[in-house]
Amino acid sequence: MLLATKLSGRRRSVLAVVATLAVLAPIGFLWQRSLVPNDLSPMSMGYADYGGGPSSMHVHHATDVSQLTGPVDRTPDVAVDLVARKERFDLPGRGPTDGYTLNHTSPGPRIVAQQGDLVQVTLHNENIVAGITLHWHGVDVPNAEDGVAGVTQDAVQPGQSYVYRFVAKDAGTYWYHSHQVSHDQVLKGLYGILVVQPTTRDVIAAVHTYGQVRTVNGEYGERRVPAPGPTARVRVVNTDNGPMAVWVDGAPYKVLAVDGADVNAPTEIRGRSVLVTAGGRIDLEVPTAKAVRIGLGGGPTTLVIGNGDAPAGPEPAARVDLLSYGSPKPLGFDPAKADRVFRYDIGRHFGFLDGKPGLWWTINGHQYPDVPMFVVSEGDVVRMAISNTSGQVHPMHLHGRHVVVLSRNGVRATGSPWWTDSLNVEDKETYEVAFVAGNPGIWMDHCHNLPHAAQGLVTHLMYAGVSTKYHLGGAPGNQPE
Ligand code: C2O
Ligand code: CU
Repeated sequence: MLLATKLSGRRRSVLAVVATLAVLAPIGFLWQRSLVPNDLSPMSMGYADYGGGPSSMHVHHATDVSQLTGPVDRTPDVAVDLVARKERFDLPGRGPTDGYTLNHTSPGPRIVAQQGDLVQVTLHNENIVAGITLHWHGVDVPNAEDGVAGVTQDAVQPGQSYVYRFVAKDAGTYWYHSHQVSHDQVLKGLYGILVVQPTTRDVIAAVHTYGQVRTVNGEYGERRVPAPGPTARVRVVNTDNGPMAVWVDGAPYKVLAVDGADVNAPTEIRGRSVLVTAGGRIDLEVPTAKAVRIGLGGGPTTLVIGNGDAPAGPEPAARVDLLSYGSPKPLGFDPAKADRVFRYDIGRHFGFLDGKPGLWWTINGHQYPDVPMFVVSEGDVVRMAISNTSGQVHPMHLHGRHVVVLSRNGVRATGSPWWTDSLNVEDKETYEVAFVAGNPGIWMDHCHNLPHAAQGLVTHLMYAGVSTKYHLGGAPGNQPE
């Protein structure tokens, strides 16, 4: 009896060890597989997804992204020197905060160019130990000017400089920000506004939240600007991680542009708000004969244009739907004749990311860095369905090319062509977008909720025949997110 108990006790403990191993071994395998290599070429992460087109990555003379620069010999029309620092700075209306500045301010200097100008920005890193870069969010720059550490350049180390040069081809509202450890650097202030203007009747409303403090143009509370004329073009820029509703109290308004691209035949809006996704820009036309207030997501920070009392109302519940706003016009290409069709399915699962257990984002069921790299050839008509079942909203941002929205949840777009570079994809939504691959390079395609990007919701679109000598990680410590 005693012997039998002992035997079965031993057998039980053997079984327990076996059972523990059976549980631990796969976990160990997943943990090990999730480790992100310390030095990783963007060209060899994950796997290539050819979207049904030819697998034409084997080209004899690959162009390195560093060769895809802006004009090298033209004299710049706008030349700016930016010195980046880690320091304490003042949020007017609120007080000092710790973060990052450009030329001692956050947001950094506003860069204003006329359409067609050659913009040259010399970035100096004074004391930011992790290194920095500047990305020109929404500007379709040549690839070498795109400012992504580990993909289009190395992070600029303390004491170093880097020169960006590009032609501001398209008038519009843009912004710039660090693309090195962006989830830290952008949040703490390393950004600024770039306007490429056809006109001067502008008001900027750049929204950024420092900690819990939402600001407009770097200032907290009700802020006032003079009316620039009988109407103002209000350029709203959402530099935060989440979507923000914008509306006008005291007057009807129009949406003139989305992400720097003009809306065709915009109509007057009353009693509705318009959503500006994280990273997105919306230009409003607002009559300013009387003072008007721009509502920015609710809360104490608003922008009043003009003198005198401006009514203040709550956020209108109804929203402008950009899928049906304005009037259609030809796209200039036929999305039905696509050379490549991709899907970008955003999900979430339990797993390990770089050895850390957690609920991590997935792309087409795969987790960073084992994600699809979308491969295209120059001139391809590309369609992509972006769908989201991850339980959270994701502002999806493709570098280098605007995309046009074809449909949302199967409902076709019927309004103005909706060209966008930052698209608010809610949970359970699917957007179909299209574009012509006309800007060779290796372009990030990621969530602009920057902590999400840092948690692996990031991949890229690469052109056959373009390679990069830069690496993620490596000696410069490149870490774009
Ligand atoms: Cu605002 Cu990858 O960018
Ligand atoms: Cu996200």
